[in-house]
This record gives sequence, structure tokens and C-alpha cells, in this order.
Amino acid sequence: MTILITAGPTREAIDPVRYLSNRSSGKMGYALAEAAAERGHRVILISGPTMLAVPDGIDYVPVETADDMYRAVGKWIGDCEIAIFAAAVADYRMAEVAGQKIKKKGETLTLELVRTPDILASARKDFSYQGLLVGFAAETENLENNARGKLERKGCDLVVANDVSRRDIGFNSSENEVLLVFPDRSELLPMASKEHLGHVLVERIVAMAKPSCSSCSSC
Ligand code: CTP
Repeated sequence: MTILITAGPTREAIDPVRYLSNRSSGKMGYALAEAAAERGHRVILISGPTMLAVPDGIDYVPVETADDMYRAVGKWIGDCEIAIFAAAVADYRMAEVAGQKIKKKGETLTLELVRTPDILASARKDFSYQGLLVGFAAETENLENNARGKLERKGCDLVVANDVSRRDIGFNSSENEVLLVFPDRSELLPMASKEHLGHVLVERIVAMAKPSCSSCSSC
């Protein structure tokens, strides 16, 4: 199968030397890409800036901003039977990026921010994507309810939810414990390394896609 994966943070410029971003390391998305490639799938990894090595045998599309990621997803998603959105996309960017370094003046500074596109929600709406759609949910409270809201709003078949307020799992950690939220039920997976979880998730997701996949030759 052909699998699109978004990963890592996005980076939104404030001025030529500063940016808005988040604590995502990209480890979960890269672990998924590696697991999928090892299982013989074609992987298109669309990634924001990370410190990670690009896994062997994948098509790598580096991006910086949420707008870049939106365009890259729009270009590639039509080729895919599965799309997994593991990126931590910045929800806001500067209304206007300053052309020169912003100098300190007053005691406070107000930046005007505008919304970035919700790339996951655009898969069905803007790109008419009909394959299997998997989102992630990074939450600090009401994990299951918030994740279920995202599943419904964004047209997903599965949302992989994790509690990013816990220091032992999630952002920047090598381990993760996730709750799988399906339209009709939820299932907690035990804590595991992101590498192991990558394999477990790819296996589960590919099995979900198989009944509807009629066009590929690799499954
Ligand atoms: N996502 C996306 N584009 C955005 C924001 C989020 O594609 N602009 C995707 C993420 O990759 C993830 C899912 O949407 O698969 C949920 O992301 P999350 O940050 O948990 O939630 P948000 O939709 O941004 O909502 P909120 O920040 O209010 O929790």
C-alpha cells in the first residue's frame, strides 16, 4: 500500500531570526514511517524540522511551515490508500512576518496571529481523500472526549490519542501510551517504545484498510 505520514513540528517565522513551534520531536511519526517501510509499504513522509535521521527506503518531503505541509499533503495524498497525520502542526502563524529582526521597545509585545489550515480536516474537505484516515490527538485533559470530537470533526477512521501532560510518555519521550479511538469504541494500548508502537499501529491500520483496498498489488 502507499502510506502518507506527516510528522514533526511545523515552524512559523516571527522575524528573520525567531519562530513559533512546539515540543514535538517527530519520533512517533518517524517510527511509523520506518515500521511501514520495513513491512514493504511505499511511504511518503512529509516532515517538519526534526533532529532525526531520515529512515531508509521512503520518499521524504521536508517542509517548514503549516502552509508548506498543507500544500505537500495536497500534492501527494491522492496517491495513497492510508494517510496518518502524526505532525504537531502550529495552529497559528504571524499575520505578517516581520522583514527585519524585531527590536525590543516597550515592556510588553503583542503579536497578531492568524489560523493555519487544519491539514487533517482538509483531507476529506479540500482534497476529496477517500482512503483510510488516521489522526493523532495530543491532549492534556479529557483525553477520550477530546479525541472523539476530533475523530468526528475531521472525518477520521481512527484517532490515536495521547496525554502530553505526562512526562513519561508523549512529546520528546521515547515511550508512549496511546488510546485508540474508533467511531464505535476505544482501546488502550499498553505503554511501549515508540518503535514497538510504530509496528503495532502500522499492523492495525493496514488491517483496517485492507477490505477497502482494491487497487494496490502489495497486500
Ligand atoms: N492537525 C493538522 N493541522 C493542524 C492542526 C492539527 O493536520 N493545523 C492534525 C494533527 O496532525 C493531528 C490532529 O490534527 O493528527 C489533532 O491535532 P491536535 O494538535 O491534537 O489538535 P488540534 O486540531 O490542533 O486542536 P487543539 O489544538 O484545539 O487541541
